[in-house]
Amino acid sequence: MSVSLSLAGQTALITGAATGIGRATALLFAQAGARVVVNHWNQPEDAAAVVHAIEALGGQALAISADVSDPVDAKRLVMEALQSVGHIHVLVNNAGILQEKPFLDTTDADWQRMIATDLGSVFLMCRAVLPGMVAQGSGVIVNIASDLGITGRAQFAPYCTAKAGVIGLTKSLAQEFAPTIRVNAIAPGAVATAMVSLEQMSPEWMEKELDIPLHRLGEAQEIAATALFLASDLSRFYCGQVLGPNGGSVMP
Ligand SMILES: NC(=O)c1ccc[n+]([C@@H]2O[C@H](COP(=O)([O-])OP(=O)(O)OC[C@H]3O[C@@H](n4cnc5c(N)ncnc54)[C@H](O)[C@@H]3O)[C@@H](O)[C@H]2O)c1
Repeated sequence: MSVSLSLAGQTALITGAATGIGRATALLFAQAGARVVVNHWNQPEDAAAVVHAIEALGGQALAISADVSDPVDAKRLVMEALQSVGHIHVLVNNAGILQEKPFLDTTDADWQRMIATDLGSVFLMCRAVLPGMVAQGSGVIVNIASDLGITGRAQFAPYCTAKAGVIGLTKSLAQEFAPTIRVNAIAPGAVATAMVSLEQMSPEWMEKELDIPLHRLGEAQEIAATALFLASDLSRFYCGQVLGPNGGSVMP
């Protein structure tokens, strides 16, 4: 049996890849040999820095700005990527937002923005990318959910709902598109990024995040490593699974 972590000869489209987990995944995939499409939304400088970092490693990348929560923009992103790179072998649905707010203060706009960004974008991107993967007879999709999509959390109802939806969508697409295309998800615990930091957490939130067996936040690179595993041949028997780099916050 020959299996490898290499992504040589493959193109990966990563949403929200200008910062955090998406950025770390873009850099790691490039180190594994992939050409990377770095999606960002209104972050041209951060995205250009990711592209330059990949080029400095001897890799290939391009940045495309698009709001992946918008149906027209998500479709344009995939069309532009395909025009530039020909094929998309790996899609990582990483773009997301987070909001901590009491449920009874949650507005219609809060709810709609969260569901459109953290769940709707995954639907839109999968719908836009899957026809090409089906036509080429192969493909891998990695969806970034969250441990909060499994456990739920007070003050985070829209986020938890969206991430639970990502897990349901992952399992459904995994069954519908197997064996040609493998679809899996990652449900990270708290990871130190622009989205989550000990400095910005409420005391209650911080206490919960550190009260886990490993007693620390994760690093973006640790989630990227799981994404590389799921994108590569090494995970070729994984289908519809939810992997949990989470320091022990959830033990299914
Ligand atoms: N940091 C954590 O603790 C943690 C834990 C579990 C899951 N996650 C998930 O990991 C993913 C990455 O988050 P992160 O921690 O790296 O935070 P981050 O804020 O650094 O990254 C999120 C990226 O998504 C982009 N984005 C947001 N809305 C977008 C849109 N409509 N179109 C395109 N891009 C958009 C942002 O600009 C940003 O670059 C998110 O889906 C998040 O929910 C994070």
